[in-house]
Amino acid sequence: MTAPADSAAAQPRVKASPLQAVRGMNDVLPDEAALWLDLEDAARRVFSLYGYRNLRVPIVEPTPLYVRGIGEHTDVVEKEMYTFEDRLSGESLTMRPEATAGIVRAAIEHNLCYERPQRVWLAGPMFRHERPQKGRYRQFHQFDVEALGFPGPDVDAEQMVMLARLWRELGLADGIALQVNSIGDAPERRAHRAALVEHFERHEGLLDADAKRRLHANPLRILDSKTPAMQAMIAEAPRLLDGLGNESRAHFDRLRQLLSDAGIAFEVNPRLVRGLDYYNRTVFEWVTSRLGAQGTVAGGGRYDGLFEALGGKPTPACGFAIGIERMILLLQDAKRAAGDAPVAFVVHAGDGTEALAVRVAESLRDAGCATVVNAGGGSFKSQMKRADASGARYALIVGEDEARDGTVSIKPLREPGEQRAVAAGGIVNALVPAQARAGR
Ligand code: HAM
Repeated sequence: MTAPADSAAAQPRVKASPLQAVRGMNDVLPDEAALWLDLEDAARRVFSLYGYRNLRVPIVEPTPLYVRGIGEHTDVVEKEMYTFEDRLSGESLTMRPEATAGIVRAAIEHNLCYERPQRVWLAGPMFRHERPQKGRYRQFHQFDVEALGFPGPDVDAEQMVMLARLWRELGLADGIALQVNSIGDAPERRAHRAALVEHFERHEGLLDADAKRRLHANPLRILDSKTPAMQAMIAEAPRLLDGLGNESRAHFDRLRQLLSDAGIAFEVNPRLVRGLDYYNRTVFEWVTSRLGAQGTVAGGGRYDGLFEALGGKPTPACGFAIGIERMILLLQDAKRAAGDAPVAFVVHAGDGTEALAVRVAESLRDAGCATVVNAGGGSFKSQMKRADASGARYALIVGEDEARDGTVSIKPLREPGEQRAVAAGGIVNALVPAQARAGR
């Protein structure tokens, strides 16, 4: 097709300035994405060991879901949501800032817990308009895990035991510590809240502007304040843990017993409150000191009232979410290399070599062996450099001699060893251990 003379193609070219990603929303390039895949594999494996099954819910939901679910006076709802109007209907929609409310909406909509309780998980992006810094982004990713229809505390403990297993699998168990607390049930929370308001009112002169604003809307959040002048007054505030009713107390005692029985180390942190309003009784966080200010790598708890708040039947539930970017930072900190290097890199140059190179690579792939074939030509020397840079364990060399004889030369790249030639048909036997071949 020829372009009309006055089209853009005929205009003198103006160099366009390059576009950039939205602030706080990151690309994950292949070197780092390999670690993501390893983490996703490990998480998937561990979740399925405990009977948790995958489910997926939309990224965009009606805004009232989050206002009702997370709470009107939370930071997330007050200032962090990406909310917009649907172009046609004008309905207010929000990009999910977290997954629990959406999962509960889906469970109610599809009557998921009708026959039996459900253990589910999902992985995916969440969106919060926070100030970006290391470990805190505007688009971030979570593994979100929920046990729907379980009164606990057995399932609360199960989730912490499962996370401890995941940290072990990732080799990170030493760097992450568990904190637990109980924030009681609604009546205990109401009584505690009244006592808190009274305490803060008595010290109103010490409150900063944020705390004053929250005094009646969400006094619990004042306990999270970092303002130095308020710390002594906060330390003296009444503790919910001291005012738990019998049932909440028994739930928390049993949870601690189950964790001890399972050999899980934990600390009771009576000041642990979570930033979302749906929690009751058990709350927990896994924290590390290796990430600076954003040290919480996973957090969750029980939310027995959320189903009802969203129009469903009373359904007790417990869950948590892991911040994937923070886990990746920890894995990078531990210098964990991703296992995504190919086993073999095939270099080939000269007449008739390409067909053999491709055939050899396909036979290795049939045997489950990741193999990269040099693309784009180049001298043997430059191809060998690429082979080395790929991280492959072996370079497989196909030159004109090899093509003529039907052989391939194997050169180990990561360990000492001589180059040796094998018949092309024997390449799988030469590279893939007999055990692995039998297991396929
Ligand atoms: P959350 O504490 O808001 O809980 O988030 C869970 C985890 O997501 C945090 O511990 C952190 O690792 C990560 N995270 C949160 N915000 C950001 C951000 N801006 N950038 C990077 N990572 C972040 C929830 O979302 C609840 N839905 C968890 C839950 C599930 N509770 C019950 N079930």
